[in-house]
Amino acid sequence: MERRVFRINLFIFVGLNGNDMISRCYLEITNVCNLDCLFCPKTDRAKRLMSPEEFDALTDKLKDEVRFLYFHLMGEPFLHPQLAQFVRSARHKGFVPVLTTNGTLLPQSEEVIDAAPHKIQISLHSQEGNGKENPEAYIAGVMEFAQKAAAQGVIVVLRLWNQGGYESNNQVLLDEIARYQPRPWTERYDGWKLAENLYVEYDRMFEWPDEAHDEWDGEDVFCYALRNQVGVLVDGSVVPCCLDHDGSIVLGNLFEQPLAEILASPRAKALYDGFTAHKAVEPLCRRCGYAVETKQYRKKDV
Ligand SMILES: C[S@@+](CC[C@H](N)C(=O)[O-])C[C@H]1O[C@@H](n2cnc3c(N)ncnc32)[C@H](O)[C@@H]1O
Ligand code: SF4
Ligand code: SF4
Repeated sequence: MERRVFRINLFIFVGLNGNDMISRCYLEITNVCNLDCLFCPKTDRAKRLMSPEEFDALTDKLKDEVRFLYFHLMGEPFLHPQLAQFVRSARHKGFVPVLTTNGTLLPQSEEVIDAAPHKIQISLHSQEGNGKENPEAYIAGVMEFAQKAAAQGVIVVLRLWNQGGYESNNQVLLDEIARYQPRPWTERYDGWKLAENLYVEYDRMFEWPDEAHDEWDGEDVFCYALRNQVGVLVDGSVVPCCLDHDGSIVLGNLFEQPLAEILASPRAKALYDGFTAHKAVEPLCRRCGYAVETKQYRKKDV
């Protein structure tokens, strides 16, 4: 089976207490989505929206424990009516806020720019992944927002993570983008820099782990989950990574326990120590292409 690249940073930060710090957390403010991308498994979990009180309680627990705060694991964060307030609050608590969005709701969400997220990643590949027509209107909404955000110092990344699938419309999307941000663009290793703070980024479509799949036959496996990332689902469940879309590996609940206690739990320690010994302990991990891509440099986040 073809091996898939999974996007992940190798940075491990040192926290205020001098210990290793997990660099980023995927905090799922909602698991509801307004699209149905063909390449995305979505989730079978009950649909929920995180309340402001819950967001506050969870970010208090994550404060000084993680640096980059993402607002999704599954779901579409721009569906959340308090998104701008959440981004502001996250900044105030010392996180570096990063947003990932399918880009369909940007025209009515400009107040999010003023909340000053560090970065916004817009998944342009969701257009073809939903068989949508009228790319002109979609790109118009994306570019108006993207140019305003970039001008205000927000890094904007226009993703085309569809190499190997649903990529037939890329040229149309790029030509539409060029109507707003004319070429020439500066070529980079993974796309282009279009203007200050504005990028197009290519990558491969990847395969999600799934307990219904066969196990990989890789022997020398490794994964940076719980080393440089952790996920918190909308009900407070803590999972090891941004690929655990159905909450197969729940390590504890952040509403009920501190993060340190959850990371010290027998299940979390077994997963962590397993990967130290290059073994995938969890059934889901034995079916995850990322664990098999051992020792390969992975540059990005999901
Ligand atoms: C699960 S989505 C959640 C955030 C938001 N709903 C969005 O689509 O941007 C996170 C990121 O994963 C990407 N993604 C999901 N499935 C993918 C796949 N099979 N291959 C490549 N990217 C994928 C999405 O397009 C998006 O960029
Ligand atoms: S990739 Fe994002 S937009 Fe597409 S279905 Fe999944 S959660 Fe929704
Ligand atoms: S190997 Fe396991 S913990 Fe790592 S990304 Fe895959 S499912 Fe998540």
